[in-house]
Order: sequence, then C-alpha cells, then structure tokens
Amino acid sequence: MSGKLITFEGPEGSGKSTQIRLLAEKLEGQGIEVLCTREPGGTATGEQIRNLLQHDAAGEPLADRAELLLFTASRAQLMDRVILPAVERGGWVLCDRFIDSTMAYQGFARGMDLATLDAINTFAIYERKPDLTLLLDLDIEAGFGRLEERYSDSEESHDRFEREAREFHHRVRDGYRKLADREPARFRVVDAHRTIDAVEAAVWSAVKEALL
Ligand SMILES: Nc1ncnc2c1ncn2[C@@H]1O[C@H](COP(=O)(O)OP(=O)(O)OP(=O)(O)O)[C@@H](O)[C@H]1O
Ligand SMILES: [Mg+2]
Repeated sequence: MSGKLITFEGPEGSGKSTQIRLLAEKLEGQGIEVLCTREPGGTATGEQIRNLLQHDAAGEPLADRAELLLFTASRAQLMDRVILPAVERGGWVLCDRFIDSTMAYQGFARGMDLATLDAINTFAIYERKPDLTLLLDLDIEAGFGRLEERYSDSEESHDRFEREAREFHHRVRDGYRKLADREPARFRVVDAHRTIDAVEAAVWSAVKEALL
C-alpha cells in the first residue's frame, strides 16, 4: 500500500510547525505511521544546506540562482532519502514547506521565471506531487506578531527571509493564493487567523475529506 505526502505551506508564522505536530498526533491516533519532516532540511545534508540558506552561514550574499538550487538540492536529497522510502512502505509524510515555497518565494516574491521553477521542482521530485497541500493563509503582520512572541522566549533570531521587506512577504502570500487557485484539487486553503484549535479542526476536516 502506498502512503501519502501532505505538505504545509504559508507565510512566516502562519502556524505550519504547530499544525504539523497536531495533525501527526491525530493520524498516529488512527494507527497511521507518520513521519514529520521539513524543508530545507530533513536530512543531514539538507540541514547543512538549511544553515547556509537561513543564516548566511558562508558569510557572503547568495545569488538568487544559488539560493534556488540549494533549496532544490535539499529537496532532492529529502525525496530520495526520506519521503519516497516512507511513502513506499505505506507511511504518511507531513512536510513543513515543499515545492510551493519555491514558487511563492523564488517565483512570486523574487521574480524568477515560474515555468523554469516548475521544471526544476519537477526534476527534484520526479513529478511526485503532494497528495494534499494545506495552505495556512494568514495576514503578514499577524504572522510577524506571532513570531515576535515566539522569539521573546527563545534564543532564535530572525532568519534571512524574515528580514526581507514587508512587500516581499505580501508577494509571498498573494503568490500562494494564486498557486492554490491554479491547483484546486491538490490545495486546501485554511484560514489561519483563528485560534490554534479552530485551525486544527479545519486542517483535520480537510485531511479527512481529501484522504480518509
Ligand atoms: N492560530 C494561532 N493563533 C495564535 N498563535 C499561534 C497560532 N498558531 C501558531 N501560533 C503561535 O505563533 C507562532 C508561530 O507559529 P509556528 O511556529 O507554528 O508557525 P510557522 O508557520 O511554522 O512559522 P515559520 O514560518 O517561522 O516556520 C508560535 O509561537 C505559535 O505557538
Ligand atoms: Mg515553522
């Protein structure tokens, strides 16, 4: 039996990591084998790439194309080492960001050519698109407000993307909504302005309706 790949997308602070955790618990309660992972990262190689991408670890500005290809390298590694093996043994993989982040951030926000990005994404994932993509849609200011709270009680600091101008993040949010309009069979848009419990309930009904 083949498993499922569910991806979570959305702007900064929209609740992706929170909701992945909650959904994983619910699915495990149904006796499903669940694996949670994230992009960039999820493999030893991918986590090193994540460090380069999020925190300028190499100490020099990244060319947009280099940024794109680093994300893609992390994705290809995650696909071969983690996602495909898990799905092939019947597991459900929940992934925090995936191909649509490339379209939203490098495409709609940075302005790189969408058709090129689509081809590069396809190359990285062998056309194995997610079975379901949950877009947590949230106002940019609300998302940054939540992050400030999260940072106030941790060592974490703003990453390279969070330091981009607000206009950049508005293009990300609008881009995501366009992607969802283009592929309504794969996407479910969840209004993430509500409480954690209300968003959790909306995610669960989307998953049940689409996959269970
Ligand atoms: N529905 C909600 N209402 C209020 N606060 C929330 C809600 N969902 C998550 N939070 C809080 O907002 C912060 C950001 O949530 P979370 O880390 O899950 O978002 P994210 O989308 O994973 O963010 P990032 O883009 O930084 O990875 C956390 O402190 C979390 O506890
Ligand atoms: Mg997160």
